[in-house]
Amino acid sequence: MLLPETTDQYTKVNAAFSKQSNHFDDEDFANPILQQWRQLIYQHVDSFLLKPSTILELNAGTGIDAVRFCMKGNRVHATDLSDGMIEQLRLKSKLPNLENRLTVQQASYENLSEVAGKYDFIFSNFGGLNCLDDLTKVTRELPKLLTPKGYVTWVIMPPVCFWEWSWALKGHLRKAFRRLNKKATAHLEGELFTAYYYTVQDLKKAFAPDFALIKVESLGFISPPPASFMFASKFPRITRLLNKVDATVRKQWPFNRSGDHLIVTFQLIKGN
Ligand SMILES: C[S@@+](CC[C@H](N)C(=O)[O-])C[C@H]1O[C@@H](n2cnc3c(N)ncnc32)[C@H](O)[C@@H]1O
Repeated sequence: MLLPETTDQYTKVNAAFSKQSNHFDDEDFANPILQQWRQLIYQHVDSFLLKPSTILELNAGTGIDAVRFCMKGNRVHATDLSDGMIEQLRLKSKLPNLENRLTVQQASYENLSEVAGKYDFIFSNFGGLNCLDDLTKVTRELPKLLTPKGYVTWVIMPPVCFWEWSWALKGHLRKAFRRLNKKATAHLEGELFTAYYYTVQDLKKAFAPDFALIKVESLGFISPPPASFMFASKFPRITRLLNKVDATVRKQWPFNRSGDHLIVTFQLIKGN
C-alpha cells in the first residue's frame, strides 16, 4: 500500500505530466539542446545494444525514445505513470511501422512487479526517476526483469549542477543551490511535487549487490541545459566554448559526477 504522502506525490506528478503531454513533442523537437543531448544518450545506449534487443522503458513519456529504438530494430515495452503520456504512447504504438514492436503499459515505479517478461535492457530517460523518493523501490525489481548480464541505463539529475549555481549571481540563491538538499519542490504546469537528486554513490548503493557500475557521462557539466536554450541562442560563442569544455571532460572522473543530468549504466552480474 502507498503512503498518503506518496499518493499525493503521484497525483500531482500525473497531473503535471498529463498536462505537459499535449505539447511535449513539439517543445522537445524545437529545442536544439534537447535534440543534441538525446543524440549523446543514444550514442551511450547504442554501445550496449549490439544486437536487436528487448527493451523495457521506464517513464517513457510520449515515446520519443521508444520510437527511435523500435526504428533501429529493437522491441520496446514502454511504461509510464501519467494518463496523458500513456495516451500519447498508445497513439504512437498504433503507427503502422511500430505495431508489434512497441507495447504500452501504465505502470508506476512501485508497480513494476506487474510488468511481465524478460528484457535485455532497461532504460529511463530525462529525470523521471527524480520523482521517486527511494530508488530501491525500482532496483529490487530489476534482476527479475533482466536477461543474464542485462544492462540498465538511467539518465538522472545529480545534486551538483554548476550551471544552476550561476543563478546565484542574479540573486536567486535558494533556487541556485536547491539540489544540494537532495530534495526540492518542482514546479511544472502549475503543479508542485517533490524532486529528489541522486549522486552516483547513491545509485551504486541502490543497485548493490547485483549490479556493477559500467559507465558514467555528464550532460551539461558546465554548458547550458535545455531549459536555458535562450541563453545559448543569445550567446552562441560562449555556448560553443562551454560545449567544447563539456565534450573534453564529460566522460572523465570527477567531471562525470556533476551536471544537469548524468547518463549512468549498470550491468547485472548476479541474480536471475
Ligand atoms: C521529463 S519526462 C521524460 C519522459 C521521457 N523519458 C523522455 O525522455 O521524453 C518524465 C516522465 O516520468 C514519468 N514519471 C514520473 N513519475 C513516475 C512514476 N512514479 N512512475 C512512472 N513514470 C513516472 C512522467 O509521467 C513523465 O512522463
